[in-house]
Amino acid sequence: MFRFRVHAAVHRSVGLAILMGILGIAGLRAAAADDKKPYPIFTTEQFVSAMKTVGQAFTATNAAVTRSETDDAKAYLAISRDRLATPITFWRDRHRDDAVKILRQTLSLMDQLDVALSAEKVDTAATGNLAKQIGASCQSCHQMYREQDPSTKSYKFKGVTE
Ligand code: HEC
Repeated sequence: MFRFRVHAAVHRSVGLAILMGILGIAGLRAAAADDKKPYPIFTTEQFVSAMKTVGQAFTATNAAVTRSETDDAKAYLAISRDRLATPITFWRDRHRDDAVKILRQTLSLMDQLDVALSAEKVDTAATGNLAKQIGASCQSCHQMYREQDPSTKSYKFKGVTE
């Protein structure tokens, strides 16, 4: 009987130690995950700088598509896509589902353009058309969330607060 009790006590404490170990690891894991969040906080400054790059890269994409310079078009498109995709968290954090939707739609059109540019024989009518659709998709978000200062011509957010 006595032996049994000792045994049980030892078992309990071993069990507790294991449990604490697991909790400890879980805690560390949670802290580590917190350190490098998969969704970084995106400030308005970072957003604007990303948009500027998207603007330049997509202008270059359009020009390359028009000139049928497929490799260049693909390279510029990849930069545009990358820089446009990251700020999705900016809209998520601000609960703008409509903006997230337009952004997703733009990215999906970009993927379609990439596929079209990767064809063995590139259909220039199709790539030109996709590039136009992407431009229109950018504009639909700009109409909703961007405004231009009539005097300085610079852009700012419309209806979006920090
Ligand atoms: C989901 C919304 C959204 C989408 C999609 C979007 N933009 Fe924007 N963009 C904005 C907002 C909001 C601003 C205003 C921020 C600012 O510039 O102050 C902006 C600003 C810009 C600017 C001006 C940057 C500056 O201040 O000089 C350019 C250039 C630009 N976008 C290009 C593009 C291009 C090209 C695409 C498509 C490939 C695109 N954007 C897609 C929301 C969007």
